Amino acid sequence: MDQPIGVIDSGVGGLTVATELMRQLPKEQLIYLGDTLRCPYGPRPKEEVIQYTMEMVNFLLKKNIKLLVIACNTATAFTLDLLRETLDIPVIGVIQPGARAAIKVTQQMRIGVIGTEGTIVSKAYPEALHSVHSDIEVYDLACPRFVPMVENGVLEGDEAYQVVKETLQPLKEKQLIDTLILGCTHYPLLKDTIQAVMGNDVTIISSGEETAREVSAILGYQELLYEGERLPEHAFYTTGSWQVFAHIASQWLEIPITTLETAYLTT
Ligand code: SIN
Repeated sequence: MDQPIGVIDSGVGGLTVATELMRQLPKEQLIYLGDTLRCPYGPRPKEEVIQYTMEMVNFLLKKNIKLLVIACNTATAFTLDLLRETLDIPVIGVIQPGARAAIKVTQQMRIGVIGTEGTIVSKAYPEALHSVHSDIEVYDLACPRFVPMVENGVLEGDEAYQVVKETLQPLKEKQLIDTLILGCTHYPLLKDTIQAVMGNDVTIISSGEETAREVSAILGYQELLYEGERLPEHAFYTTGSWQVFAHIASQWLEIPITTLETAYLTT
C-alpha cells in the first residue's frame, strides 16, 4: 500500500504529530498540509472551522491519501464525526488518543486540559475522558495567546515564559492536577516552558505519540501498511508563509524538508 498518509493542521503544530508518525512508521510517506494563512482556528466559529477543514481534506484527497490524520484539536473537535461519516478512508483525530494517554498516567484522577477556545468550549476532552472513566475530575482552560506565539516562532525565553505563566496561573495556583493534557498540537513546542511553570509534579501529555500508535494499529488492521523497503520523501504544503514553517520544522523538530510548496485551497 504505497499511498501516502495525509496530515492536516491549522499551521505548524501538527508537525509535532508528523514527527511521531515518522518515528513510529518510518516507511510511510506523509503529505502534510498546514493552513498557516488562516491560523489560528481556535477563535473561529465552528462553521468556519468545518469549512476550512473540508477545503484541506479535499486538497489531500486529490493526492490519493490512504488515511487522514486531523493533527489539530480544534478541527478534530468540530469535524471528526462528520469526516468519519463521509470519507471512505480511515480518519484519526488527536483528542481520544490524548485523553487515553492521560488516563494511563494520572494517579489522582485529576487531569487538566489546555487548548484553544474552540476546543475548550466544545467540551470534547471532558467527554473523551469521561467516556473512559466517569470519575475523573477535569479542569480545562483556554490559552488563546499560545498559538499566535508559536506561529511567530516564539518558543522559549522571557516572553514565552511570561505569557505561559500568566495564562496557566488559574491551573497552577490551586495545585489541583497531577496530569496536564496539551490539547492543542502547537503546545508541545512550548512544552519545556509549560513544564517549568507547572513544576515537575505535573506530568505533561502530548497526543502525538498515542495518535501515531493508533494510526499504526489501524493501518495494520486494515492491511494498509507499506510493506516494501524505502526511505519515503515526505511532502509539505502550507497556505501561508513558508519561512516560519521551515524554521520550526528544521530547527525545532529536526524534520528534513525537501518539498515545501504553497497550497491554494478551494471549496
Ligand atoms: C489553532 O489553530 O488555533 C490551534 C490548533 C489546535 O487546536 O490544535
